[in-house]
Amino acid sequence: MDASFPPGRRFRRLRAKPAVRDLVRETSLSTSDLIAPLFVKADGPAEAIPSLPGMSRLNPADTLRECGELGQLGIKAVALFPCMPAASKDDQGSQALNPDNFFYQAIRKIRQAHPDLVLVVDVALDPYTTHGHDGVLDAKGDVDNDRTVEILARMAVLLAKEGVDWVAPSDMMDGRVAAIRSSLDKGGFPSTAILAYSAKFASCYYGPFRDAVGSKKSGDGIDKRTYQIEPANARQAVADALLDEAEGADLLMVKPAGLYLDVLHELRGRTQLPLVAYQVSGEYAQIHAAAEKGWLDLDRAREESLLAIKRAGADLIITYFAKKMAQSRI
Ligand code: PBG
Repeated sequence: MDASFPPGRRFRRLRAKPAVRDLVRETSLSTSDLIAPLFVKADGPAEAIPSLPGMSRLNPADTLRECGELGQLGIKAVALFPCMPAASKDDQGSQALNPDNFFYQAIRKIRQAHPDLVLVVDVALDPYTTHGHDGVLDAKGDVDNDRTVEILARMAVLLAKEGVDWVAPSDMMDGRVAAIRSSLDKGGFPSTAILAYSAKFASCYYGPFRDAVGSKKSGDGIDKRTYQIEPANARQAVADALLDEAEGADLLMVKPAGLYLDVLHELRGRTQLPLVAYQVSGEYAQIHAAAEKGWLDLDRAREESLLAIKRAGADLIITYFAKKMAQSRI
């Protein structure tokens, strides 16, 4: 044996058979780590989303049923996203503040039927605006930070009224977490938590999601780089997340997950708050596309991609694989 090989050291002893490997496993992945995203539409039959295989836009009744199934499988949280009819969108995203829009009504019904399920809902205007930005625009066409924050703070209170457990600002405006905390407290919702999309990058991996909710894609010329973080900037992402903590966020998020494991790992060492990672639509879609071609094993790629996100430091993962993963555990 090579002289540099330390005497007696053989790592393969601890890889010898399944029981040994189970005993020395450092990271585990369980159903209760997962948050399942669901796309809710106003009415009509389920519509498959081609770029998110296995996912569909569901009407409120089907969404309700799906929440029940997910709960039965041991999933404790769902993230609900609205697919607004194009005709209801405008440049102000007005429907975001209409408590009678179908999405708020759907949340109300889910809340009543499933009191134990944790409901997570985005606070951002992109599903509601014709231009597809997460906020309202100023005269120059840039997103107006402070006017957007005021709207989001009101939107968070409306969601809290419907019984949403975690409001999740996904807009990346400055100061939104403090404003939302303050309006929730003033509005009588001190117990509603804030899951801040803190380190949210300007990623092309949101494409299939934008197909799903019918908002604009990069191909449509939309550019969110004046508010989402530059993919090159890990330090800035950590600083932004720590500011969200200081403003009162209860949980912090890194998004996308698999491409930003360094940010997740760094943040893990800098905060005691729970960390959430969003395995986004493009991450899911690319695994499916490769599996369809027979180039990757779908089940193993699912497990490995999620395990890597846990290993890097996530406590919870929002993933389109949630249901499949939960089914594989029973
Ligand atoms: C809305 C929002 C987006 C996603 C979650 N919330 C899209 C975006 O910011 O453009 C992406 C999720 C995914 O790709 O799965 N602000």
